[in-house]
Amino acid sequence: MAVPPDAAQRAQQLRDALDQHNHAYYVLDAPRVPDAEYDRLFAELQALERDYPDLLSADSPTQRVGGAPLPALQPVTHAVPMLSIYTETDKSAQGALAFDARVRKVLDVPADAPPIDYAAELKFDGLAINLRYEAGVLVQAATRGDGQTGEDVTHNVRTIGQIPLRLRGAAPAVIEVRGEIYMRRDAFEQLNARQRESGGKTFVNPRNTAAGAIRQLDPAIAAQRPLSFFAYGLGETQGWTLPATHAQVLDALAGFGFPVCEHRVVVSGPQGLIDFHARIEAQRAALPYDIDGVVYKVNALAQQRTLGFVSREPRWAVAHKYPAQEEMTRLLDIEIQVGRTGALTPVARLEAVFVGGVTVTNATLHNEDEVRRKDVRIGDWVIVRRAGDVIPEVVAAVAERRDGSEREFAMPTRCPVCGSHAARGEDEAVARCTGGLFCPAQRKQALIHFASRKALDIEGLGDKLIEQLVDNAIVKTPVDLYRLGVLGLASLERMAEKSAANVVAAINKSRETTLQRFIYALGIRNVGESTARDLARHFGSLDALMAADAEALLAVPDVGPVVAKCIVEFLAEPHNCEVIEQLRASGVHWPEHAPKREVDGPLTGKTFVITGTLPTLSRDEAKAMVEAAGGKVSGSVSKKTDYLVAGEAAGSKLDKAQQLGISIVDEAGLRTLIVGSESRGDEVNQGAVE
Ligand code: IVH
Repeated sequence: MAVPPDAAQRAQQLRDALDQHNHAYYVLDAPRVPDAEYDRLFAELQALERDYPDLLSADSPTQRVGGAPLPALQPVTHAVPMLSIYTETDKSAQGALAFDARVRKVLDVPADAPPIDYAAELKFDGLAINLRYEAGVLVQAATRGDGQTGEDVTHNVRTIGQIPLRLRGAAPAVIEVRGEIYMRRDAFEQLNARQRESGGKTFVNPRNTAAGAIRQLDPAIAAQRPLSFFAYGLGETQGWTLPATHAQVLDALAGFGFPVCEHRVVVSGPQGLIDFHARIEAQRAALPYDIDGVVYKVNALAQQRTLGFVSREPRWAVAHKYPAQEEMTRLLDIEIQVGRTGALTPVARLEAVFVGGVTVTNATLHNEDEVRRKDVRIGDWVIVRRAGDVIPEVVAAVAERRDGSEREFAMPTRCPVCGSHAARGEDEAVARCTGGLFCPAQRKQALIHFASRKALDIEGLGDKLIEQLVDNAIVKTPVDLYRLGVLGLASLERMAEKSAANVVAAINKSRETTLQRFIYALGIRNVGESTARDLARHFGSLDALMAADAEALLAVPDVGPVVAKCIVEFLAEPHNCEVIEQLRASGVHWPEHAPKREVDGPLTGKTFVITGTLPTLSRDEAKAMVEAAGGKVSGSVSKKTDYLVAGEAAGSKLDKAQQLGISIVDEAGLRTLIVGSESRGDEVNQGAVE
């Protein structure tokens, strides 16, 4: 079908707009439009391209994930070889000085000449890639391979949002952009968390995961791995006047739409390099991605040309590495740690190893399935990873190093701390101790939680003190707190009589609390502060809550089956109920109100969500109005929502409601819904409680 000119024009407009939004979102990290607007433009372009297939072009934003899996990756000969970097092994100051001395010698700079300018940047721990653009359009992406020949991975690279399919601004006839494809640590952690949840195998580190994704034959798989990119250099160029310095090259690449790392500087002489090395090392853990060192490059391209290459390394660049984030050590034993909620976590006890800048002796193994999947055995040599502030982790066993003396790990069926039965829910990854408040391991944590600020808020009763009280068997459950005397407390090590008196006073004060705080303080799994508030509001009294079955709990806004199950299980445990009764008997109290009865009104059976700023009503007033008329108000839009009350500056909830086809009303519309049946007004008021 011939393409009408207005369709072609609209398609071009849409592509430009989507490219802009893409750049703002992925590269500048400053989205300019809501996701829904992007989706609308995207859908419109897809529809146009479907109606007029002649409109399709490879650089269209709709073409990032497309095409069938390839039978094999094809070799690509690099127009300009992809070199490696000489790694300076000397410790920081010496290494930088040696590099500077070599550069000055080859450039034949006299000792009293001004210092050389260097560009210093990060050495990203990912995989090198060459991106070839012809007339501004991405035509080929290739891995480094052996430096001469790499592999064509264009299909996967196209799925990376940070890599432009088309350059911004005036494009050279040919430009090859080189850089690193990597995976952010948070993306890697999330990916592994998803893998664990779905029972899949976890990935070892971000670099391997990124490299694995890029070498997939099916682009759909790469598209699911959140990859990022930093540009750091050039390959072949044609029809482009090279800038004078490396720093200007990077600026130009940023101008073409590539992400360029912000941690780059131009320094004068070797001292600047030494300072950069130290500064980045201090920041390393806080960076959102892995680096394995820094790279120093002679800044002036003319000097780079003079320096040239020796074998396969440029003489104008060196890398300076930091201590590794992965090391090998012996797994001495696997012990079980019991968490506050009773979760049993296998923890690896390791022969001390220096990794990621600290000495590590423990590392998490997450759960039983994870130990199985990784086939980690006691006595194994294992790879331990510690990157950034992430907890050290055993990522793999080195099976080749086994000598047969290794033992397989078996998850205990009883809690190692209290001997209670350990249970594992049907589709849960973790086993839990069922001992609740009975289990000393959970006891400490339960007490810490009980006394915490959002719970009973007992000032001065901190983690250390609780630990002492539990270790000395003075306190076993929260009830014991209310029996504590000043003398008993003061007998503890490092506890003055004055502070003991303060703690006792704070405990006494905590007797007067609120139902919300009390419910939260119980430490029921999945019952956080806001669920505790909803429960307190809905039931009004603890007895009403304790009498509730799962169905009754589901009537509480935002309580779903999982939370309901946790509450029912907690309250089915006689020991827990005993503690609750004893707490009440010790004088812990709160104001109660009658349960909110179902109100029979014009909105009975309808669920509302309120969003944005309404012209006259506050959010709470609108909520009260809906509830007084028998309706329910929920915090999030779902298929169960009947109406969305939208005010000014309504955001994602409005988008979602529109997607789900939910009726949307404004404040006036809400009033009409309520007073539409004026005659029932009295009834509505009667039904309302408080
Ligand atoms: S420049 C001729 N800059 O390090 C110099 N490389 O052996 C070419 N790398 O795998 C490389 N960060 O992918 C350069 N800022 C950076 C880098 C960097 C990481 C990697 C590169 C290659 C290796 C070089």
